[in-house]
Amino acid sequence: MSEWKKSDWRAKPRVQMPDYTDPAALAAVEAQLSKYPPLVFAGEARRLKKHLGAASRGEAFLLQGGDCAESFEQFSADGIRDTFKVMLQMAMVLTYGAKVPVIKLGRMAGQFAKPRSAPTEVVDGVELPSYRGDIINELDFTPQARIPDPAKMLQAYTQAAATLNLLRAFSTGGYADVNQVHAWTLGFTESEKAEKYREMAARITDTLDFMKAAGVTQETAHTLQSVEFYTSHEGLLLEYEEALTRLDSTSGKWLAGSGHMLWIGDRTRQPDGAHVEFLSGVLNPIGLKCGPTTTAEDLKVLMAKLNPENEAGRLTLITRFGAGKVAEHLPRLIKTVEEEGAKVVWVCDPMHGNTIKSSTGYKTRPFDSVLREVREFFGVHAAEGTVPGGVHFEMTGQDVTECTGGVRAVSEEDLSDRYHTACDPRLNANQSLELAFLVAEELTALRDSRTKREAG
Ligand code: PEP
Ligand code: CO
Repeated sequence: MSEWKKSDWRAKPRVQMPDYTDPAALAAVEAQLSKYPPLVFAGEARRLKKHLGAASRGEAFLLQGGDCAESFEQFSADGIRDTFKVMLQMAMVLTYGAKVPVIKLGRMAGQFAKPRSAPTEVVDGVELPSYRGDIINELDFTPQARIPDPAKMLQAYTQAAATLNLLRAFSTGGYADVNQVHAWTLGFTESEKAEKYREMAARITDTLDFMKAAGVTQETAHTLQSVEFYTSHEGLLLEYEEALTRLDSTSGKWLAGSGHMLWIGDRTRQPDGAHVEFLSGVLNPIGLKCGPTTTAEDLKVLMAKLNPENEAGRLTLITRFGAGKVAEHLPRLIKTVEEEGAKVVWVCDPMHGNTIKSSTGYKTRPFDSVLREVREFFGVHAAEGTVPGGVHFEMTGQDVTECTGGVRAVSEEDLSDRYHTACDPRLNANQSLELAFLVAEELTALRDSRTKREAG
């Protein structure tokens, strides 16, 4: 086999990518990006891969979350801080349930390009090309705004670099004050669930008090002060990805320098397509979205292409079937993975199979469906004896009203209040935390049953 080249994808069928109208402008942007520094480094990507390898064995748990689509207009330090903060809070709650390290992976600093269900969109009888994310075109419903503009890649790069710079600063700044765990549940109104979560928060506080009494102070507990935070996005816009790909001199392998982990979307996972070709050749950990139409045969071929050496942590399967459909699809994919003896991290994305249109006309996701898919995911893995390795959410630290439900219930009528997403509806800060408590419960139950089995 000839050696992989970062431009090989260009000879393969491509889907979900824009047709730029000005080839010279595109080439100029690619040339410029190729000279810019990579945003992440090979050693970091390898370290994340090692952590994910642990998650594949149940020795770590992945929390992946952030915007559906990052936006140029809503870009702000406060927005980044709030999402970072909620992710750390969720991670603390999950650590309590899982009793293993939680890997924090943002859908951040590069999550700009979006696959769409249709190439065009019709509003009041007018048909225009679909919005494909701020790195490609604009959300405004005008013909001009929807023309793909390669210069947007440069703005996306700059925003990603600034985001990552802030995330790197927050990560070492003692930002996650674990002693605040009680305050996190204050927003929950009275309910049986809220009560349970407060109890869990109280137990976390107890543990922290014990640690303090035993002499583990903030100063000595370095791990409570600094965190490792990684970035990820869908590897969709391959011109951008190729231009940021760099040779890692220590290993002689290629690094996708745009983010630590890149994933392949449910719409771009054709085994012979451009996206699989590109991502097969980079050393980063790779995610693969698996939906109801993922066949066993495809999965087999994809695993062979994307992880030929069966390296633990290289491949994460992010399943997104929809509540009520997990029992139908997950067991057959687990069977394929087991038959192949493949090492994968199983991650649940309970967002993308649960999108509906509300009676008030908004694209939304009922919080109950999200919870249900997470429960079903844990249920199937418990029945199959396989490892649930993590969760993948579209969420924000802001107090938006995009998904309905949760203990501080958002109704269909409320959706119009603070509906800010450029693409899919996100969980707000409260809903995200509530979900973390639910996942922590599932992880605790899993541990208890394992302990019982080992004892009996
Ligand atoms: C996404 O994660 O935003 C996305 C488009 O997901 P999927 O490819 O699973 O539909
Ligand atoms: Co989405």
